[in-house]
Amino acid sequence: MRIGIPAETRPGETRVAATPETVKKLAAKHQIIVQAGAGLTASVTDEAYAAAGATIGTAADAYGADVVLKVRAPNAEERALMKAGTVLIGMLNPFDAENIAAMAAAGLQAFALEAVPRITRAQSMDVLSSQANIAGYKAVLVGANTYQRFMPMLMTAAGTVKAARVLIMGVGVAGLQAIATAKRLGAVIEASDVRPPVKEQVESLGAKFIDVPFLTDEEKEIAQGVGGYARSMPADWMKRQAELVHERAKLADIIITTALIPGRAAPVLISEETVKAMKPGSVIVDLAVSQGGNCPLSELNKTVIKHGVHIVGEPDLACHVAADASALYARNVLDFLKLIIDKEDKLVIDREDEILKATLVCADSVVLRK
Ligand code: NAI
Repeated sequence: MRIGIPAETRPGETRVAATPETVKKLAAKHQIIVQAGAGLTASVTDEAYAAAGATIGTAADAYGADVVLKVRAPNAEERALMKAGTVLIGMLNPFDAENIAAMAAAGLQAFALEAVPRITRAQSMDVLSSQANIAGYKAVLVGANTYQRFMPMLMTAAGTVKAARVLIMGVGVAGLQAIATAKRLGAVIEASDVRPPVKEQVESLGAKFIDVPFLTDEEKEIAQGVGGYARSMPADWMKRQAELVHERAKLADIIITTALIPGRAAPVLISEETVKAMKPGSVIVDLAVSQGGNCPLSELNKTVIKHGVHIVGEPDLACHVAADASALYARNVLDFLKLIIDKEDKLVIDREDEILKATLVCADSVVLRK
């Protein structure tokens, strides 16, 4: 079987879907074609791929393979380079109906890895987790870099410096890593989330949980989320949360927001009123900016200063740690590939398999997921 790894072309995308480590494993049984320069932004040279057993080729060579491994969904030009029946694997955005329709029209068999279900068997393929972990780490470093004071408490001959106060909104994979990273830098941390089990995780990392009590059974039930993901909370709970967050934000030096609801606009957690109440020189890093943002003042791909607060709207922070982000992503992809390659090294797609069923967004020119 021929497996192609094209270069990513989406602006700002620095990752690559295979590394010499994963190519080496695949090249033992398959022909691997890597587009020249595909790994450069992730610090992988063509020579390293060639040494791992890949053939270096053009975009057309890579897209002409039987299976194409991508980070992001292909654009129209790239789609045109693939023949009908090609198996495409990547973060294809299962909520982008227009793109899925276009991939279906091109006859592709496309797997959107973001839709991997949160079951134990699929953990090693969970691209959202592997990339969110990196984004959470980098968010703290970006926040610390933008902030014009120290993170840890310092006692020096010239006087004492207070530790920075960091507020984390949304404690999933990214939020937990942000807490751990901020802790290592010596900050004092508070965190908020809707899902009750998070409290214990936050406290075990040495941070304080901002408790917004549930007043009704409905609130309690919605807060459980579905499939590991949060659901939109009722307006009354959100109002109470906003009041509490407003008070905590006034004291915070750096706020990192990560709250997402799959397929929907991100919840607004830091209002303009709250930004106005924050200290001058404080920083917000809004990881949800590409889904509308947890702060309405954040702007995509920009760092802006509003009411004296620096607001970082960088959408894909994992792209700033391209080498490790690619290494983890490539391992996720390799594990996913094992589901569709049988013992004789042939391509077999079992549409009844729970993971394949959840991720296959189109096949046989039909859209399978809306
Ligand atoms: P996410 O990226 O979808 O959302 C980030 C966080 O924002 C979540 O914790 C969510 O509860 C929170 N959030 C949403 N609305 C909010 C609001 N209004 N206020 C405050 N917080 C809000 O979540 P992520 O990081 O993908 O993970 C969610 C959970 O799934 C985690 O507990 C994670 O450990 C679990 N998980 C389980 C896996 C498995 O069992 N295989 C694999 C990956 C994650």
